[in-house]
Order: sequence, then C-alpha cells, then structure tokens
Amino acid sequence: MTRLVLFISFLVAVVLVMSLGSFKNLTVDNKSFTYSEVKKNHDEKLETIEKLEEARLAALKKATEEEEPVEEGPLVVLDTPQLESGHSLYGKCIVCHGKAGEGKKSQNAPAIGGQFDWYIEKQVVAMQTGERVNQVMMPYIRALSAQDIKDLAAYISKLPWAKK
Ligand code: HEC
Repeated sequence: MTRLVLFISFLVAVVLVMSLGSFKNLTVDNKSFTYSEVKKNHDEKLETIEKLEEARLAALKKATEEEEPVEEGPLVVLDTPQLESGHSLYGKCIVCHGKAGEGKKSQNAPAIGGQFDWYIEKQVVAMQTGERVNQVMMPYIRALSAQDIKDLAAYISKLPWAKK
C-alpha cells in the first residue's frame, strides 16, 4: 500500500515538473493591452462576417427566385359567350379530364384538350343516347342540352393539346 502511494506521488511529481517546464518556455509578450486596438480587430472581423452573410443571403435569394414557377396565362381566352359558358360547364369535367383537358390515368380518362370540337360533340351526344357506353360519365352529361355540348366542345377544343 505504501509503495502504491509512493508511486502515485512520484507520478504526480513528474507530471508537475513537466508542466512547469513547458510553462517556462512560454514566450513573453511585452505588448501592452490597448483596448482600441482589440476593438478595431473585433470590428473588422464582424464586418467580414456581415459581408459573407450578405453574399450568402443574396445567393440564396437568387436560387429561390429562379425556382419560382413561370406565371401561366389563361388556358383559353374567354372572348365569346360560348367559350364562357363552355368554361363554366367544363368545371364538372375537371375531376377526370384535368384542368387543361390533359386526362388522368387514375380515372382512366383520356386527354381531350385540343381535340376537334365536332369530335367531342359527337362523342358526348353518342354517350347520351347510349350509342357509346360510358357509365362513369353519364351522371355528368345526362342533363346537358345540345347547346351545352356545343359550348363544351368549343371550349375543350381551345385547350392546349396535351403533351404525352
Ligand atoms: C368520372 C370521370 C369523368 C368525368 C367527370 C367526365 N369524364 Fe369524359 N371520360 C371519362 C372516361 C373514363 C372516358 C373514356 C371512356 C371510354 O374510353 O370509352 C371519357 C371519355 C370522354 C370523351 C371521349 C374522348 C375520346 O377520345 O373518345 C369525351 C369527349 C369526354 N369524355 C368529355 C367529357 C366532358 C365534356 C365531361 C364534362 C361534362 C366529362 N367528359 C366528364 C371520364 C369522365
């Protein structure tokens, strides 16, 4: 036990002497402390940081600006009463055929935007009479008048042709 205590004190003494040695080697700096000097240094560093931060924010802003979507114009210019009526009637068709008539896979609904107006009219009339069977669309077209169908066809044919 005594030996262990002796050994530990020896170790502590060695560590102490070693650290004292390194303390002796510290360079002595006789420069006096001047507050204004230190403050200037500090302010310069702050300025650099501010500049860097500004540049970072500018880069970030540019990146987000570039990602902004391009403003889309109206799909169809509603310059006739027929197109206006077609536009409001088309609201019921959007769930399946999409806002631009691009169709929806999930609904099995084909793209109809940009299709010939006579073709659209013919198909919808054929569905109404049962010549062409389309169970899912029936509730949406049953009450359409002949004029409604013409208006719809005029509007849909003006929608952009769907890119596939
Ligand atoms: C519930 C979903 C649904 C709604 C709502 C709907 N459709 Fe359809 N439509 C379909 C499906 C599905 C087909 C394809 C059926 C087939 O292949 O016979 C289709 C086919 C068509 C076609 C034939 C396309 C072609 O290439 O032959 C036209 C035209 C059409 N729809 C117009 C309309 C219009 C106009 C409306 C709104 C009044 C409308 N649809 C609303 C589901 C829908």
